[in-house]
Amino acid sequence: MQIKKVGVVGCGLMGSGIAQVSASFGYDTVVREVSQELLQKGLESIRNSLEKFLQKGKVTEADRAATLNRLQGTTRLEDLAGCDLVIEAVTENLEVKKETYVRLDPLCDRETIFASNTSSLSITEMMMTTQRPDRFIGLHFFNPVPLMALVEVVSTLVTSDEVKRTAVQFAKSLGKTPVLASDRPGFIVNRLLVPYLLDAIRALEEGLGTLEDIDQGMKLGCGHPMGPFTLLDLVGLDTTYFIANIMFEEFKEKRFAPPPLLKRMVLAGRLGRKSGIGFYKY
Ligand code: 3HC
Repeated sequence: MQIKKVGVVGCGLMGSGIAQVSASFGYDTVVREVSQELLQKGLESIRNSLEKFLQKGKVTEADRAATLNRLQGTTRLEDLAGCDLVIEAVTENLEVKKETYVRLDPLCDRETIFASNTSSLSITEMMMTTQRPDRFIGLHFFNPVPLMALVEVVSTLVTSDEVKRTAVQFAKSLGKTPVLASDRPGFIVNRLLVPYLLDAIRALEEGLGTLEDIDQGMKLGCGHPMGPFTLLDLVGLDTTYFIANIMFEEFKEKRFAPPPLLKRMVLAGRLGRKSGIGFYKY
């Protein structure tokens, strides 16, 4: 199946990045947010990202103009009707995602592929709210989407082979490397990454070292691009907390249980970069 037009539902941290790469790599892209205010904020972050790439010589002025030309912002879900692929990147809440699919399903062609960018929720549970379980898949991008090379392609028991092939091809066409995973909470990367991040918080709670030293230790000792607390602030403490809870719920293993400090920080609104303060101040 040939993908020409892509819809993205949600223009937050992940949705805006997905819409940006989709438009950058030649797809006509419609991105939808619930309000004009959130839409403008998301489009602004795309413009900022393109500006950085321009300054660094990674794109030309013509590339930037062409990307913005291919990108259409909207607050109407109906405007996604003509898309061949719709990628959903709304807030990591199963009820909100299910509601989105219930509204989207009758608007789109039967052939349209639905892909969720969820990092931990059940693709199977979402797909069952639609009339197209065979044309439903997970496409999990990584933050920051324009820079990160990986996409997890997540199949369920009933995803058709054609949809899998199309999703893999689509990820490659964005310059990303796809890996295949099955529909279990956290897929491959978060299954291994989340216990590590939670352990770093537990180590801090126990007074093992300062956050700067723990970060520096993992950065220089293991060659990681960032230490766990810098990464937690990038991912968002609320997102990490949601994912940890979902994984703990599924596996009932201690290593997925969110530590009390994480919960307290989320309750206090210290969400990381997006709120201006997390483990570090921005
Ligand atoms: N668009 C354009 N530029 C961007 C950007 C974006 N969206 N986001 C950040 N940048 C820029 C920064 O502004 C900075 O530019 P500057 O140096 O001019 O200020 C630059 O990228 C960062 O450059 P650095 O020299 O610090 O680092 P690198 O370019 O070498 O790498 C990185 C940046 C790719 C973010 C690297 O630090 C990294 O790989 N970090 C780990 C990220 C990671 O692990 N992400 C996965 C999180 S888990 C996840 O997403 C799953 C989810 O389900 C939770």
